[in-house]
Amino acid sequence: MRASYDAVKQEAERVLGYIEADRLDPETQERIVKDSLENFPLYVTEAILKSRKSYADDVGVAEWEDEGAIFRDTKGNEYIDCLGGYGVYLLGHRHPRVLKAVKSQLDHQALHSQELIDPLRGYLSKLVAMITPGDLQHSYLVNAGTEANEMALKLARLATGKTWFISTEKGFHGKTMGSLSATGKGLYRKPYLPLVPGFQHVPYGNADAVEQAIYQLIQTGESVAGVIVEPIQGEGGVNIPPDDYLPRLREICDRYECLLIVDEVQTGMGRTGKLFGVDHSGVVPDIMTLGKAFGGGVAPIAAMVTKHRYWDKMEENPFILGSSTFGGNPMSAAAAIAAIHTVVAEDVPGIVATKGAYFLNELKTIQSRHQDKMVDVRGRGFLIGMEFRDDALGYEVAKALFRRRILVGGTLNNSRVIRIEPPYCISEEQINAVLDGVNSALKELS
Ligand SMILES: Cc1ncc(COP(=O)(O)O)c(C=O)c1O
Repeated sequence: MRASYDAVKQEAERVLGYIEADRLDPETQERIVKDSLENFPLYVTEAILKSRKSYADDVGVAEWEDEGAIFRDTKGNEYIDCLGGYGVYLLGHRHPRVLKAVKSQLDHQALHSQELIDPLRGYLSKLVAMITPGDLQHSYLVNAGTEANEMALKLARLATGKTWFISTEKGFHGKTMGSLSATGKGLYRKPYLPLVPGFQHVPYGNADAVEQAIYQLIQTGESVAGVIVEPIQGEGGVNIPPDDYLPRLREICDRYECLLIVDEVQTGMGRTGKLFGVDHSGVVPDIMTLGKAFGGGVAPIAAMVTKHRYWDKMEENPFILGSSTFGGNPMSAAAAIAAIHTVVAEDVPGIVATKGAYFLNELKTIQSRHQDKMVDVRGRGFLIGMEFRDDALGYEVAKALFRRRILVGGTLNNSRVIRIEPPYCISEEQINAVLDGVNSALKELS
């Protein structure tokens, strides 16, 4: 029921008071948690509370502030972030360089008119061209990974005049209709069937399966616009393909004259120990999508990046792909520019490669002692997956770690593979605390 203006004003002022307070007093700390437990079931959905893996045992943990590799709840308890917002916090929480750029930008302009030239769009796109491989050159800036993939799929159809896409089982590309059509997980797709037509899913890591699918489609009179893959499947359970997978996909796409779309939303910006996931094999895709860490962990921004030769229809009509109101806005563009600066200036990929190798090796040692429970551990850089005997055990380990104030993540609906995606700035001491936590959680669960 609609409330009076006075009631709305009062409620908003109360919350603004919390946002603008330097410090929360004990009464407010309790109040915020209590409010949240009431608000979610009534105005959001209780299901969100229930689906938080760490929530089950520790009712009422609300995050409130963060920095570097940690965040704090409303009561000031500190947690090591080994989930990293599923990839968002590669640069940690509120990296000072990114924050400085965003604050400075906000001090003179937040969003843009949509009509005049917004210079940061051009500066950011130039920097993206400078860090991406080969002749990737033009950026289309949006707000989220799924939007970037929507644009990628649309562009592939525009540029080739062809129709079908090959994507992979367990692949994750987002949840808007087009990206969801490429996503390879029945649970997310089933409620919305029929989705966008023209998607065929094949097993991940199998280049022959991609070629066979393209061949069969062409034989039956269809045409294939592109192949869309992640360099490592994140949401699918940290699945690393054979070394020759992407090079073979490149060769197959060239032969059948369709576009190779590589979704780097989770793997990009240094997450895997190189600037991009494709850099492990030297492959240059026709389209690359970026998101998550692209905004430096401070602002939401994503991009579709492509080569000049696929751009001619855009030159006829710049709005043919879309016209995102907020995509590439000055505040988010400032964040992404500072993120690129930080990734390059601090050699984030190099740091992630070194720390990631240490983390993975130590986890492998732990795994060798608990093989009955942890069946595998794998990863690249700071995209690491611990695979447990079953979903229930993975869930218990995640909860046991949370009790030790360490946050990890499963996949969106499964805990059999627990993801470790910490920020690059996690210290050796913090890594060792996580390793101790995993070890003792496994012992505790014997
Ligand atoms: C590889 C990949 N692509 C796309 C997406 C969708 O990104 P967003 O949630 O920002 O739409 C995700 C999100 O987890 C992802 O991991």
